[in-house]
Amino acid sequence: LFLQILLFPLFTSCARIALSECSDQSGFPSDFLFGTASSAYQYEGAYLSDGKGLSNWDVFSHQSGTIADASTADVSVDQYHRYLEDINHMTAMKVNSYRFSIAWARILPNGRFGEVNLEGIDYYNSLIDALLLKGIQPFVTLSHFDFPQELESRYGGWLSPQSQEDFLFYAELCFKSFGDRVKYWVTFNEPNLSVPFGYRRGAYPPGRCSGTFGHCSEGDSEKEPFLAAHNIILAHAAAVHAYRRKYQAKQGGQIGLILHFDWYEPFSNSSADKLATERAWSFDINWFLDPIIFGKYPTEMEQTLGRVLPKFSSHDKEKLKEGLDFIGINHYASFYVQDCISSVCEPEPGISITEGSYRKTAQKNGVPIGELTPYNFVNVYPQGMENVVTYVKDRYNSTPMFITENGFMDSNDLNYTENEHINDLRRVSFLEAHLDSLLAAIRKGADVRGYFVWSLLDNFEWRYGYSIRFGLHHVDYATLKRIPKLSATWYKELIEKHKTKI
Ligand code: NOJ
Repeated sequence: LFLQILLFPLFTSCARIALSECSDQSGFPSDFLFGTASSAYQYEGAYLSDGKGLSNWDVFSHQSGTIADASTADVSVDQYHRYLEDINHMTAMKVNSYRFSIAWARILPNGRFGEVNLEGIDYYNSLIDALLLKGIQPFVTLSHFDFPQELESRYGGWLSPQSQEDFLFYAELCFKSFGDRVKYWVTFNEPNLSVPFGYRRGAYPPGRCSGTFGHCSEGDSEKEPFLAAHNIILAHAAAVHAYRRKYQAKQGGQIGLILHFDWYEPFSNSSADKLATERAWSFDINWFLDPIIFGKYPTEMEQTLGRVLPKFSSHDKEKLKEGLDFIGINHYASFYVQDCISSVCEPEPGISITEGSYRKTAQKNGVPIGELTPYNFVNVYPQGMENVVTYVKDRYNSTPMFITENGFMDSNDLNYTENEHINDLRRVSFLEAHLDSLLAAIRKGADVRGYFVWSLLDNFEWRYGYSIRFGLHHVDYATLKRIPKLSATWYKELIEKHKTKI
């Protein structure tokens, strides 16, 4: 025991010893994708260059008070002009895939109501070709929060069923233009986060309802998130339907959906907390995946919401049958769930009364579930990774999975020097521990086909602007110079080690 106590710090912080010697990372399938993830609004900059139209995020971030450090992503890390340099950084890490999204307003500045912007199409063609030239598979998200502002102004974005047609038009343009080379498509990134943030908390565009920028009534805040989600689910179904009918056989790709997956466990052993935990899964994950995989909303939602929950017509149900080829998992944090019906507890701020019947908390009796960070959307509970993957495998009939995001952030509040940012031991430990946990799930039979670190570079983190850094590469925002962090070297070594085993 004495020896164990003495050696414990070494084993818990692998990064302090040789970077690649620390844990056994063998066991990933031979064709496993190792990559990094990004998104158009967070990375590209060039927000009005070469014919791009305004997006909802361009408009939102330009409103005062929306972003913590009052920044925008007008320039961000300027990947639009620096993608070749960024691909060199990817090559140095030996990744075999890159997850990025297409800026809808770059190729369709006014949605389906205007011309296709050929310069936008050229940009993505160049990016895709340059990636493939280096043996890096493009893993492409169609909708990562941003869409043409025109659609918001014209008919209220996702609140209108017209959004389904717009998304289908856009998706088909992408399949036609890039599908000969793109083999992994994602319809939507984290709608289970962007919908409550956009239509309940007012923290993302269109800034609806109860948040600081909210400007709608209680009644709307009860209904709007479910309406927006309904249109997104049907837009997903329409795109998958078209892909299966017209493109998939010829192009040989796969299409999936990504959700933000927190791990939830009951606050106590009481049946009330266990039921509350089920409600938390229902109102978050099952809300989107049940209709797409089982053709209906979860029973807990139907019972709680009654008529507020939109219905699927028989025509919708037909389309929903197309399902998806994979589930993308973005995982960053774990929470206890406590019932607030039978016990006195305050539901999360911004969560509507309907769902306020439970609260998520990262601590129990003052003890955190894992190491906490300054922001509650990331905490260090590696077991959560295995748990989430196992949950998805069990509930959704072993549908193939990708870990489409997992990452650790430093906050500018820490007042780190550039050197401290670059020597990111805590990020290495976080990633390593989560990969070990992922491997445990794979060894137990989970069909996980890839892993993407969020993120390649430090970048614009939505409402936190540039005050949070998630990158494997440090970005000096004055010069836009990219400097590999220790974690970039660690990732390279891990990938090399994997390659020597296959
Ligand atoms: C999820 C989102 O997809 C991504 O855009 C965001 O930057 C990361 N998580 C970190 O919060």
